[in-house]
Amino acid sequence: MAILEMRDVTLRFGEGRSGGDAGPATIERVSLELGDNEFLTVLGPSGCGKTTLLRIVAGFEKATSGRVLFDGSEVKAPGSERVMVFQQPWLYPWLSVRKNVAFGLELQGGRVDWKRVDEMIDVVGLSGFSSYPPYRLSGGMQQRAALARALVMSPKILLMDEPFGALDAQTRQDLQEFLLSLWERLQVAVMFITHDVEEAILLGDRMLVMGTRPGCIALELPIELPRPRTEQMMLEPAFLEIRRQALDTLREVALRAAGITGTGAGDLPGVPADGIGGGGAPETGQAQQNSTGQNSTGQNSTGQKSTGQGVNEDVRLPGAAGQATEPVAGSPRGA
Ligand SMILES: Nc1ncnc2c1ncn2[C@@H]1O[C@H](COP(=O)(O)OP(=O)(O)O)[C@@H](O)[C@H]1O
Ligand SMILES: [Mg+2]
Repeated sequence: MAILEMRDVTLRFGEGRSGGDAGPATIERVSLELGDNEFLTVLGPSGCGKTTLLRIVAGFEKATSGRVLFDGSEVKAPGSERVMVFQQPWLYPWLSVRKNVAFGLELQGGRVDWKRVDEMIDVVGLSGFSSYPPYRLSGGMQQRAALARALVMSPKILLMDEPFGALDAQTRQDLQEFLLSLWERLQVAVMFITHDVEEAILLGDRMLVMGTRPGCIALELPIELPRPRTEQMMLEPAFLEIRRQALDTLREVALRAAGITGTGAGDLPGVPADGIGGGGAPETGQAQQNSTGQNSTGQNSTGQKSTGQGVNEDVRLPGAAGQATEPVAGSPRGA
């Protein structure tokens, strides 16, 4: 069963606020579903609207149009069943780890269940550090404390916004493995934002690749790699194929955002000269192949799914010509 459903969600900043005109769409017609206990990863270039998408699910931003349903009810405000974890742990330096973890519960009012607080501190492997102030912990430990603070709320979904993006490679890998073991133990869905293609594949059951200006879902890929996932899998053909498809899409997205169409695109490997259909090329009604071997009518031979919001379909980029996109880790532009 789907715990989260987004239907045709568009967000324009400025809309409906006093004195402000609606700007261009930051997110346009995004539709997605997330199953109970599913691990969804969302990959996209910087500025494409990943954080905005999570903030809509969290209830911090209201969609201009479209529907957001969580557990069957419309999302109207933040709620403890949808908890965000940020790139920075945002712990209070004057509070102990234990008090930081309890902070959300205290905000809710009522009695704090300290047994549960200690249990979650234990779950994230910080039981020896309960009384420590956060600044005495390493970056990875601080992020574990932030995770405990989220878990203590008993969320049904963890909304993770590039949570390991600021960590060194080894700590990041440790925390990736730790998060997966935690997710397998706890009954929780995860929507995990990253701009790192390997991370997206290693963690997810399914992966969305976002396009930019406006933010949209360009590609949806099932990740049918067995679990537990290991670093060694990154060398396997199945992993590399998913990686290739994701990077092809990111490349198309970047070219499109830069206003490069037609012949320019053909100069890059994997991108046919007419393959990125810039500026909203009219639909011919025929099945079109893009560089990932998809066609506009549905699934291709490797099981990937065109989302109908994708790179080749109806993406308008007003005034995008000449703009550069920020690099994406793992993409040719970000190398
Ligand atoms: N509160 C806001 N008001 C106006 N524009 C915003 C606001 N928040 C984000 N944006 C803009 O929306 C776009 C997407 O931002 P964001 O969701 O943070 O992207 P990402 O997380 O993918 O890097 C950016 O151009 C950003 O400047
Ligand atoms: Mg962001």
